[in-house]
Amino acid sequence: MLSWDEFEQEDGAAQLVKATALEPVKTETVNPEPIAPVAETLSAPVVSPREQVANFQSNLDASEEKKNADALQKAIVDLEELNVEAGLEELEGSATRVAVDDKRMINCRADLNQLVPFKYDWAWQKYLDGCANHWMPQEVNMTADIGLWKTPNGLTDDERLIVKRNLGFFSTADSLVANNLVLAVYRLITNPECRQYILRQAFEEAIHTHAYQYCIESLSMDEGEIFNMYHEVPSVAKKASWGLKYTQELSDPKFNTGTIENDQALLKNLIAFYCCLEGIFFYCGFTQILSMGRRNKMTGTSEQFQYILRDESMHLNFGIDMINQIKLENPQLWTDEMKEQATQMILQATALEIEYARDTMPRGVLGMNAAMMEEYLQFIANRRLIQIGLPEQFAGVENPFPWMSEIMDLRKEKNFFETRVIEYQTGGALTWD
Ligand SMILES: [Fe+2]
Ligand SMILES: [Fe+2]
Repeated sequence: MLSWDEFEQEDGAAQLVKATALEPVKTETVNPEPIAPVAETLSAPVVSPREQVANFQSNLDASEEKKNADALQKAIVDLEELNVEAGLEELEGSATRVAVDDKRMINCRADLNQLVPFKYDWAWQKYLDGCANHWMPQEVNMTADIGLWKTPNGLTDDERLIVKRNLGFFSTADSLVANNLVLAVYRLITNPECRQYILRQAFEEAIHTHAYQYCIESLSMDEGEIFNMYHEVPSVAKKASWGLKYTQELSDPKFNTGTIENDQALLKNLIAFYCCLEGIFFYCGFTQILSMGRRNKMTGTSEQFQYILRDESMHLNFGIDMINQIKLENPQLWTDEMKEQATQMILQATALEIEYARDTMPRGVLGMNAAMMEEYLQFIANRRLIQIGLPEQFAGVENPFPWMSEIMDLRKEKNFFETRVIEYQTGGALTWD
């Protein structure tokens, strides 16, 4: 092991060697010093080249030491002038210890840097569950997909359209969700348990975007075509711009909650992103890709979507818990008009997703068609309405794809590939047999 003495010795020696090596080049080639008169030269003390180097080094060290001393002095003076009170005022909330009753979902004045005592255990539990489900896209084997995608008749045109459209939609949709979380929602949700989960969710959204990029790259798709699809294909563009409408006002740094109107704007943003974007807009695509996996096609892509769906169902449940908790703490926000607007939002999202289903499935494919998807989306919409305390809007619809629920609940049970998860591991590859 190196000691500090050895470190300094070694460093000094290295500098000496460097200076000695450079010396002849400097004196011989660039601006040679004027030659001193002979008498002066004779009377001056003889200084060896080694001493010259040592003197040069010592002057250098002295000026370096002075510079360091000045820098340290400046730091000490700045610290003496630091106004600690002003810094503490910048910290959110009061300076006292936090009690459970001080905590609130929005407009909270308690210190947000103190995670405990816990009040919202459901949020903390979801944070722990999210961490336990950690996965990375590179852990999924894409070999079979590459082979199938490159085989001219490996997939039908309709099947290829489904893969491309969904990678096109999802590759940017998860970025929209992540941006909304970190640029709008995080700041306005005022308790540390929920913020802890929001940070975890934001990272999961980054993993999802990574997963889509990984599929697109593995399949050698035209990246520009896929990533720009949310501008180019109307059924994809409409979904993206519908979501963005609800993030614009809140991502303005000057926007703040604290009035009924603004608190309702935050609530609408949460309904738009959790119930509609993540809770409806993802479901046609998830069903289509997972249906492919069930038919032993694009199994790698399907497995990526399976992991994403597991994460997304937790995002959705977290969002619903947040919305309901905000309603509980702020009943004045949940007016008849607000209920009507929330219902309208869910109906609009359902209509847009049905349009997307028709666009991605012009004919029957993979044992499903646009009419079946329409019923499924109405079934999903009813669930979203009930989950936030609103009445169902589509009477008598049933779930034509019950296998989707089984996948969402996947933990350690047998999965649809007839494989079995041995154990979820964090920070490593998942093991299947
Ligand atoms: Fe996501
Ligand atoms: Fe999500």
